[in-house]
Amino acid sequence: MPAKKTENEVTEKKETKKTAAKKPAAKKPAAKKPAVKAAPEVEQVVEIAPAEEPAQEAAPAMPEPRRSVAFIGSECYPFVKTGGLGDVMYALPKALIKQNCDVKVILPRYKCIPQKYQEKMVYRGSFMMDLCADGRSFYVGIMEYVWDGVVYDFIDNEEFFSAGNPYINLIDDIPKYCFFGKAALAALNYMNWIPDIIHCHDWQAGLVPVYLRTLFEGTPVASAKTMITIHNLRFQGIYNIPTIRYWSGLPDYVFNKDALKQGYEDANMFKGGLAYANMITTVSGTYAWEIQTPFFGEGLDAHLRYHSGKLRGIVNGIDVDMWDSSKDERLPDPYSKDDVIEKKKANKKALQEELGLEVDESKFVIGLISRLTDQKGLDLVNSIIPQLIDGNTQFIVLGTGDARYEDSFRYYENAYKGSVCSNIMYDEGRAHKIYAASDALLVPSLFEPCGLTQLIAMHYGTIPIVRETGGLKDTVDPYNMFTNEGNGFTFDRYENGLLLDAINRAKTLYFTAREYWDQMVIRDMEKDVSWDNSAKQYRDLYLELKP
Ligand code: ADP
Ligand code: GLC
Repeated sequence: MPAKKTENEVTEKKETKKTAAKKPAAKKPAAKKPAVKAAPEVEQVVEIAPAEEPAQEAAPAMPEPRRSVAFIGSECYPFVKTGGLGDVMYALPKALIKQNCDVKVILPRYKCIPQKYQEKMVYRGSFMMDLCADGRSFYVGIMEYVWDGVVYDFIDNEEFFSAGNPYINLIDDIPKYCFFGKAALAALNYMNWIPDIIHCHDWQAGLVPVYLRTLFEGTPVASAKTMITIHNLRFQGIYNIPTIRYWSGLPDYVFNKDALKQGYEDANMFKGGLAYANMITTVSGTYAWEIQTPFFGEGLDAHLRYHSGKLRGIVNGIDVDMWDSSKDERLPDPYSKDDVIEKKKANKKALQEELGLEVDESKFVIGLISRLTDQKGLDLVNSIIPQLIDGNTQFIVLGTGDARYEDSFRYYENAYKGSVCSNIMYDEGRAHKIYAASDALLVPSLFEPCGLTQLIAMHYGTIPIVRETGGLKDTVDPYNMFTNEGNGFTFDRYENGLLLDAINRAKTLYFTAREYWDQMVIRDMEKDVSWDNSAKQYRDLYLELKP
């Protein structure tokens, strides 16, 4: 029998105002479950165009029954984002609200969250929580922020979350996310908000399903069902057993080879979560299949094959309010599918000028917006740049990451002045401009669980050139020159020659049959890349778990 931990181990210190900011300005009853004691005022804080709902139109009927879901993950736009996980943690809850779900998002209160959001958080309470095997206890504060119908609860603890970045190194990150996983569940009990589903994301929330079925058994939150979503299997939270056992305080029996134990002496936080969760999802159908094979399985392919009965793939979407080229204030010349062909040229010239590229609307501009890591196929890109730059083509990179890629892109900018521009930085505004100004966007990944950049590109009328793997394969239909169908250009084997061939096929269409190219631009803008369909699939799974 699992060891039980009861509420008395989570010593409540209600309303001690240890890190108190503001008291809630207004009390508002929660939708169906009146569990949230006080909700602060709803404030719109970033310049994102709200969904336009014509006043006269009747609201679409909400699917019944209502479900409550707690999202637990390590990043969320606009508070903290390092990649697509941050986008999903922001956009999927919003889409689930339209599917009659009540969503609370639980995040660490990192110090690096911009001050303008920190100031808006409202103190919800605090308590002391046992964590480690020797019973060391830690402060857990709950700071709340309600925005666009989603409740964000930030777990506060300066000792764990005071670094400048969410992720540092495993020595720091393992204790941090042991603490976070347990504190998130304890916070749900503390707030008496018991969701139907606890939806965990990536390894940082991997211990949540394990805690729930061990130390939290017998507490109110244990009635919830758990789902864990794999956004990227490359990162798993692996460290030696004594360290993870100490920090998690989990009982010995979970460190067995079917749950947390990996190899002879390591524990794997993601592996444990996958074993204990009621349902596993990942972010595309193809990746769901790929990770059950040794190449993509990152050492967990056998574990995933064993659990394949509860594994599903649901492709990501994008937030089409945030990514709306017709209202995008970051663009010099916003556009819709009706005027994209002309306006794209204006956006292209403006960006060429801003970046010091040769200003010429007839150039074929290729963009690349990416973390600069091995996952993204950048060794292929690096090896073909000299063949790519032919006098008619320009190449714009935006990204940060491994020094060897940062350095090589800087080198190419210098070698091909006026034709290559390397923006070694993280810059949301520049990303919007590149999506709008480029003719094509390159995503030649080695593996790609889903990928959002190709979705954003299509929505902005920019043709994706992608490798047929994971979500790239599921979202980009290869162009068929005989039927004039498809959304982009693709290649299969991980070879630089095939990447170059795909780019050359794109260039050929662009320079010799522009009307077909333009038709594809419009077709891509019309493609549904929103969350609507996928949010419905998540909702169906929630209902499957809690009928
Ligand atoms: P991953 O999560 O593997 O990094 P995705 O394609 O799912 O890849 O998501 C990447 C997200 O991060 C997209 O929203 C993309 O626009 C954004 N992004 C990546 N690099 C940068 C950057 N340097 N500046 C701004 N946004 C970036
Ligand atoms: C990961 C993957 C990416 C996916 C994102 C959001 O970071 O690398 O392919 O789109 O998570 O699910």
